[in-house]
Amino acid sequence: MIAGRTTSAVAAIFTSLLFGYFICNYYSKKKFVNKKKNNNGLVDAIGNTPLIRINSLSDATGCQILGKCEFLNPGGSVKDRVALQIIQEALESGQLRRGGIITEGSAGSTAISIATVAPAFGCKCHVVIPDDAAIEKSQIIEALGATVERVRPVSITHKDHFVNIARRRASEANEFALKNRSQLNGKDTKQANGHESDGYRHSSLFSTDCQGGFFADQFENLANFRAHYEGTGPEIWEQTSGKLDAFVAAAGTGGTVAGVSRFLQEKNPNVKCFLVDPPGSGLFNKVTRGVMYTKEEAEGHRLKNPFDTITEGIGINRVTKNFAEGKLDGAFRGTDMEAVEMARFLLKNDGLFLGSSSAMNCVGAVRVAQSLGPGHTIVTILCDSGMRHLSKFYNSEYLSQLGLTPKATALEFLGIK
Ligand SMILES: Cc1ncc(COP(=O)(O)O)c(C=O)c1O
Repeated sequence: MIAGRTTSAVAAIFTSLLFGYFICNYYSKKKFVNKKKNNNGLVDAIGNTPLIRINSLSDATGCQILGKCEFLNPGGSVKDRVALQIIQEALESGQLRRGGIITEGSAGSTAISIATVAPAFGCKCHVVIPDDAAIEKSQIIEALGATVERVRPVSITHKDHFVNIARRRASEANEFALKNRSQLNGKDTKQANGHESDGYRHSSLFSTDCQGGFFADQFENLANFRAHYEGTGPEIWEQTSGKLDAFVAAAGTGGTVAGVSRFLQEKNPNVKCFLVDPPGSGLFNKVTRGVMYTKEEAEGHRLKNPFDTITEGIGINRVTKNFAEGKLDGAFRGTDMEAVEMARFLLKNDGLFLGSSSAMNCVGAVRVAQSLGPGHTIVTILCDSGMRHLSKFYNSEYLSQLGLTPKATALEFLGIK
């Protein structure tokens, strides 16, 4: 009896010790995670975005259609993740230093995100954009403290295409830093940030303390893919507890669709991944038929904006290094009219005020739901909000000139009664 009581007492003490150990362990880990999460300034506010059920589309299709709220990132779009990854990797590799300048040729969200994130790392940002891009874009970028260079739109094959100028500015900044450093050291240094002196003229664009330049190169820099492979993809997997059937997104650089699709398919090859492609883009053909574009569509032959679409930031006529990393099962085409109608439908029914690429992604989500049938869980990306799209996508006059005035009362534009 006494032996029995002793055994129970020992067991009780052991159990409470074990319980105590797990509680302490849990809280110390939690504290560590929180500590880690809360000591990195702006960087901690990037990513870990909510994944929400888009009620109207889910109810209409009988699927769970979930949207990853990337518009909640501090710089207002999915590109904050990319800007962060590009800057962190460049700093780690020594290609960029604190006090350096990150250059990018972009009229869009990536430039805004780099301008947002760069100061958190003591860096500056220089953006080169075509001079026909909406003026409010350069105003935002300048308001964020970046410098903006507006240049004449020319073909990508021209040395003065805005992307090529941005690349050149990074080299010039390195030259500039080299010269300053060698003057300070009193000796001739021939290398800065992995850059060898090649005699570029120094630009007056850089401050005297400029520590060199780095070209972000969002299309070809695989840090873009990794931002989604290591961030967005794992978050979606965790937020759905691995219970999802499909993922769909449009591609601009291809970083999002490639990173997320690659991660999800490695976790579970049964998760189907799809592209939704806007008008004028060659990727639909590439995914479904393996052929990229006709000769007339080749980017080198086009003068400037190669896309016949109102949607912004998506559609492309070449396979970027980032897109090539993707694992796609198929593709759908989306039209401008569908994107416009979808944006109005989501605003009216869900209170979601989304940009054009997000609207196209939701068109893709409905197309996937229609092809898989009810009962499936489908995830897509809500890239940015409608705030940056007032002058075109949400401008009735502009839409009417293009014959894109929305008229749908529900989802009839996608064949849903
Ligand atoms: C608003 C917006 N949505 C979507 C995309 C496409 O994302 P990704 O470049 O990862 O293909 C971009 C790309 O610039 C964008 O600016």
